[in-house]
Amino acid sequence: SQAPKVALLGAAGGIGQPLGLLLKQDPLVAHLALYDVVNTPGVAADLSHIDSNAKVTAHTGPKELFAAVENADVIVIPAGVPRKPGMTRDDLFNTNAGIVRDLAAVIAKASPKALIAIITNPVNSTVPIASEVLKKAGVYDPKRVFGVTTLDVVRSQAFVSELKGLDASKTVVPVVGGHAGITIIPLLSQTKPATKFTDDEIAKLTPRIQDAGTEVVNAKAGAGSATLSMALAGARFANALVRGIKGEKNVQCAYVASDAVKGVEYFSTPVELGPNGVEKILGVGKVSAYEQKLIDASVAELNKNIAKGVAFVKGN
Ligand code: APR
Repeated sequence: SQAPKVALLGAAGGIGQPLGLLLKQDPLVAHLALYDVVNTPGVAADLSHIDSNAKVTAHTGPKELFAAVENADVIVIPAGVPRKPGMTRDDLFNTNAGIVRDLAAVIAKASPKALIAIITNPVNSTVPIASEVLKKAGVYDPKRVFGVTTLDVVRSQAFVSELKGLDASKTVVPVVGGHAGITIIPLLSQTKPATKFTDDEIAKLTPRIQDAGTEVVNAKAGAGSATLSMALAGARFANALVRGIKGEKNVQCAYVASDAVKGVEYFSTPVELGPNGVEKILGVGKVSAYEQKLIDASVAELNKNIAKGVAFVKGN
């Protein structure tokens, strides 16, 4: 089989379709396997007419899931229902938790060595859910399961570069913690190129980044949550995983099992990616007093989200 193979689960959705488009155009992807419960053949036929080298295959419905993920190097999961106005990411829990649990159970059998990138919200809980399923199956490797928080980084870089008149393509802002509300912690003090912010700028930028998903949910007025920017973020992260597999080590923020912050099992920090997924947890680094307060405040909320995911799998 051709490598690397990337499997996209939820490929016909609002995120899945543009994410499939970006992955089809990624010169490093040799095989793009599209899986969804509906409409996969149409999306696959459409994408297969693009003159890039990635081979596209369509897999529809639970019976075809095994083949979709078998031999996959990277599995990207945006399957699930999106937010509507007035909903938090946690309100998605009941539906999406079951979807991620069932997908992970098949991955555990068909592709236990794959790197798994989870987009399905609430990410703070769905990453522990997938991890628990893999643990039960005896194939869990904490270096191979990721919650995609790249959109928080992308948004931070967009908002900071706009505010400060920087070149967006050269602006770097790490984001740590989790992927919802107060658990999203932009480390503005680590912005590159080195940039000074006033207290007032920090006090406005931070909540804007934390609530940016809601800006999109409200603007879409019932039609869903971020899809295009999320697809870009997902494709960027999948490309980073593939580069790591090919031996090009690189650093990305991601929500992974980590001992970077005391008292919490999963925490997004910059991590070094390599052939086996996480090579090194780089941790939060040097943070300001304001950022440290946000980190401390996020731990209780994250632990609640994590415990909810673990309890879902354990049947409590
Ligand atoms: N297996 C595979 N695909 C599924 C399953 C399943 N069990 N259940 C639903 N899907 C598919 C749907 O058929 C649909 O094509 O997932 C896709 C979801 O697409 P949308 O409803 O358009 O949702 P989207 O905006 O893409 O968001 C998906 O990503 O960011 C998160 O919060 C967001 O959890 C939500 C997810």
